[in-house]
Amino acid sequence: MFITLEGPEGSGKTTQLPRLAEYIRTLGYDVLTTREPGGTPIGDQIRSVITGMKNTAMQPRTEILLFQASRAQLVEEVIRPSLAAGKFVLCDRYADSTLAYQGYGHGLPQEDLRWLLRFATGGLKPDLTLLLDVDVEVGLQRRQQGGGEWNRLDAYAVAFHQRVRQGYLALAAEEPNRWLVIDASRPQDEVLLDLQRAVRDRLNSKSV
Ligand code: TYD
Repeated sequence: MFITLEGPEGSGKTTQLPRLAEYIRTLGYDVLTTREPGGTPIGDQIRSVITGMKNTAMQPRTEILLFQASRAQLVEEVIRPSLAAGKFVLCDRYADSTLAYQGYGHGLPQEDLRWLLRFATGGLKPDLTLLLDVDVEVGLQRRQQGGGEWNRLDAYAVAFHQRVRQGYLALAAEEPNRWLVIDASRPQDEVLLDLQRAVRDRLNSKSV
């Protein structure tokens, strides 16, 4: 089963992902965790180009293509082989991040992005996408108060991050069977319980 975690900055994905993975292991499954951009040696190099604070001249189209390059490598090198080996794959961000950030955030045409995403992923879609939804100001504040590295992309204006959040909610509404929206403003342990329940429910309704 292929599960992705999505959400705006400071939504807690990166903290929750290993905890959710640990829980799925206790259910007896082999779990692989990964993240975007990055997740492979080539992808990690692309990641440092994307997030590097000195790359302020980066154009939105350049950024999009770099995200897709990292993703294509991750899908072929890690995700597909792991799924084929019967593993659970848990990914911190995936194609929906492009629709939310580059589409809703930067206003690039959804139709073009969807074509690019099909190309980059070879059509591989998650079985379940968990959206950790949090107020933009709260998320950015968490981020600045030591919730991880502060990178070039975090520095976009608050209005940008607000469009990203609304974009995520619109994507979730479009495909309610794949997405689950979780209120991530609550204490982490409560959020984790919801994530665990979502996975259990999905396992009960589908064989892995
Ligand atoms: P990262 O440090 O991984 O942030 P987070 O902990 O919030 O996931 O940086 C990833 C950044 O890249 C984040 O700002 C979202 C952005 N992003 C896109 O804009 N498009 C994409 O397709 C992906 C995968 C990420």
